[in-house]
Amino acid sequence: MLIRHAPDIKSSEITGFRLYLNRRSFLMGAAALALAPSRPAAAAPPTGQSLKATRHEAFAVPDPPTKFESVTTYNNFYEFGVNKDDPARLAHLLKPRPWTVQVDGHVARPKTYDIDELIRLFPLEERVYRLRCVEGWSMVIPWIGFPLASLIKRVEPTGKAGFVEFTTLLDPEQFPGQRKGLFGFSLDWPYVEGLRLDEALHPLTLLTVGMYGQVLPNQDGAPVRAVVPWKYGFKSAKSIVRIRVVSEQPKTAWEKAAPHEYGFYSNVNPTVDHPRWSQATERRIGEFRRRKTLMFNGYADQVASLYAGMDLRKYF
Ligand code: MTE
Repeated sequence: MLIRHAPDIKSSEITGFRLYLNRRSFLMGAAALALAPSRPAAAAPPTGQSLKATRHEAFAVPDPPTKFESVTTYNNFYEFGVNKDDPARLAHLLKPRPWTVQVDGHVARPKTYDIDELIRLFPLEERVYRLRCVEGWSMVIPWIGFPLASLIKRVEPTGKAGFVEFTTLLDPEQFPGQRKGLFGFSLDWPYVEGLRLDEALHPLTLLTVGMYGQVLPNQDGAPVRAVVPWKYGFKSAKSIVRIRVVSEQPKTAWEKAAPHEYGFYSNVNPTVDHPRWSQATERRIGEFRRRKTLMFNGYADQVASLYAGMDLRKYF
């Protein structure tokens, strides 16, 4: 992802500094990728509390899951820092209980749910999904969660509902990356993401509370995150405290930071390059070869109809 300049840097230096940081994070990313299978960047967390779920075969991809150790030590979670091992190193700072999720906006029954109430409300399913990061790496993860649609329907969207906005916790005590200037990089916190209402209601879109048979590790977005498998990973907001049904397209954190690089839709699309790199191929964590990136991350059969008639270069 794009790394922004610190506020005290002269405008003439911005491009170089950005390139430098991007190159640095790219190089570190590449090194971590190579090392991920045998030598993780940080210790994997102790096995978490187990979480029961019914496996949903209809949505499971046949690819073998990525090692739990890699999925929990090679993360993007800028609230903890810009390096891939910052989230695992600092994840203990996040307190996922007590936790509430406010569900409001254009809905007839707005409600603030305690996280454990939310988990009890809907049957938990296990679904093996691919996750493709915009940076060119991918993972295969057995998530545990329930369709976001179940929650959205429960609060009864009104006729004004057009989009769904997710907001991550804002708390610089728990998230050192939100402390101004700490890493010389800052998004406009809190992290905000969004989906069109029909995308949010799509049966593939999950609200996730666990992975690999256990509760979600903090670095993967505890206690609850979105998972939208046909979109680049950054659409899958972590540690969500608010889900708001809105009429206007939400302004997302990455769109605000770099609108020419990160569009609202961000569907995985090997034919539309990122302005600074190709999206044609990807590297599965734990593998060395590059594989071809699939349209909509391999979920075209299920989601292509959502975008019928849309120019996907314009709506990237
Ligand atoms: N959510 C928040 N709140 N903050 C983040 O920095 N990073 C995104 C997404 N969700 C991010 C986030 C990006 S860029 C990716 S690729 C995925 O989380 C990574 O998820 P993982 O670390 O569990 O693999």
